[in-house]
Amino acid sequence: MATLQQLLHDRLAAAFASVAGEPVDPSLRRSQHADFQADAALGLARRLRGNPRQIAADVVGRARWDDLCASVEVSGPGFINLTLADDALGTLLGAANADDRLGVPLAAEPETVVVDYSAPNVAKEMHVGHLRSTVIGDSVVRLLEWLGHRVIRANHLGDWGTPFGMLIEHLLDLGGAEAAHELSLGDLNTFYQAARAKFDSDEDFKTRARNRVVALQGGDEQTVRLWRLLVQESEKYFLSVYDRLDVRLTGADFFGESAYNDMLPQVLAELDRLGLLRESDGAQVVFPAGFTNREGEPLPLIVRKRDGGFGYPATDLAAIRHRLHTLHATRLLYVVGLPQRQHFEMVYEVAREAGWLRPPARAEHVGFGSVLGPDGKVFRTRAGATVKLIDLVDEAVARAAALIEEKNPDLDVVERAELARTVGIGAVKYADLSNDRTRDYVFDWDRMLSLEGNTAPYLQYARARIESIFRRGATTPDRSRRTVTVAAPAEHALALHLLAFPEIVAETAESLELHQLTGYLFRLATLFTSFYEQCPVLRAEDDVRASRLVLCDLTARTLARGLDLLGIGAPRRM
Ligand code: ARG
Repeated sequence: MATLQQLLHDRLAAAFASVAGEPVDPSLRRSQHADFQADAALGLARRLRGNPRQIAADVVGRARWDDLCASVEVSGPGFINLTLADDALGTLLGAANADDRLGVPLAAEPETVVVDYSAPNVAKEMHVGHLRSTVIGDSVVRLLEWLGHRVIRANHLGDWGTPFGMLIEHLLDLGGAEAAHELSLGDLNTFYQAARAKFDSDEDFKTRARNRVVALQGGDEQTVRLWRLLVQESEKYFLSVYDRLDVRLTGADFFGESAYNDMLPQVLAELDRLGLLRESDGAQVVFPAGFTNREGEPLPLIVRKRDGGFGYPATDLAAIRHRLHTLHATRLLYVVGLPQRQHFEMVYEVAREAGWLRPPARAEHVGFGSVLGPDGKVFRTRAGATVKLIDLVDEAVARAAALIEEKNPDLDVVERAELARTVGIGAVKYADLSNDRTRDYVFDWDRMLSLEGNTAPYLQYARARIESIFRRGATTPDRSRRTVTVAAPAEHALALHLLAFPEIVAETAESLELHQLTGYLFRLATLFTSFYEQCPVLRAEDDVRASRLVLCDLTARTLARGLDLLGIGAPRRM
């Protein structure tokens, strides 16, 4: 099933090609002056040294339009303005109505995509940065999976490195049972900070910690067992957070840094064989092309440290190689905060120079900004500590519960608790996803939970309100109805927007800028409100009523699907 925009695009492309004698992108976009505008005649006129208005008129003359458009006009210096025919919109809506996927096609060429996201650190609290990664990553996963891609969720857990020496020694000091208790309760900060404090103040402890790292790297059995205990308890805790957040990450998705340990010597040997390895300050490094420091000196990516150990960069080199060679992924996504941009760009460049990363495979840093507090500074608790992710979730749900109790006191307890969860968590996720990913944003409870404006509760409420139309009319949506009458301007505008859903989904899957999708949904809810104000639904007669009910149903389904792609629930009642 071709989308509306595709139909127009193909028709225009054929007409342009027949005028130009070669393929031309019609450069079609939505427009304020008509429904759509095509601008390609201007560029073509420069190439052909012709008159752009004349060329546009020729193009219009080369194709049939009346089956799609009510009017096609040349305007200004040579724009082609297209206004869709209501009949054509009605037919396309009928097709979307009968389609479970709302007219959104599956990807023509499904890819294997690795999404690296969440990635908290063992025995350390998840903070709001991990919230962003988890929420954005989850939405990216849902979107790509829905389009039919094979998605591998890679939770690149920080489960290796020198801090484990002090963590294991602290665990021994506490006793295994007590440590497990602290960790599984999610009291990770206390645990980490206590270990850190001893490390900084107690020379004896420091020595033990250092020896412990050596034992861990050497594979000492008892040490490895203690390390595994730390990892397992933390994983349990992270899973409880994921469950609470309602994201798709599972225990099977943990593929931590330690999983690459065995591959590290191979990676080193291969880089050496390829002639990419250099010695710098006793360390073995690669100097990827194009990276210099402020003094203009080349920047190294350290593969093996002077002390013989492998660190974070080496692990990411092993990971990218594994994802390309073993998992055969063609799209690698790294949902990690912007401060790590350069690290990833350097890793990609080394992977290219090593011949691992070759088109069509590509790697993208899906970077994001920070979450700020009301004072515009990095988000912290009143006591100045980093904000625990789980506390945010709990507060969101509590605030939503209060809101619901006020609006809808008759709801029974179970339903109210369920609704509070959906609204509260949805509000937190939506506030994050509706902002330009690369910018910082201010965490604002009142705004995110407001029933007005570009918020999750507003969209959830819009969906529930449409469901209530069906309930009041004692009717159910007729998904077999293939003809929809579009007549009023508000119907025309709503229809056009509904039919743009496939493009928005495709564009968002490419850009991974989820605020494109949230903006689309917000506009949909707004257009629906105007439609509902101007076009009576239940009070209309037969055919008009049936058509308008399809518009209602399509809007509700698009809202619910869109929210689902963002990882947000859309209750039928609110
Ligand atoms: N654990 C890291 C952190 O908390 C993020 C890991 C991101 N993924 C990666 N492949 N390096 O900052």
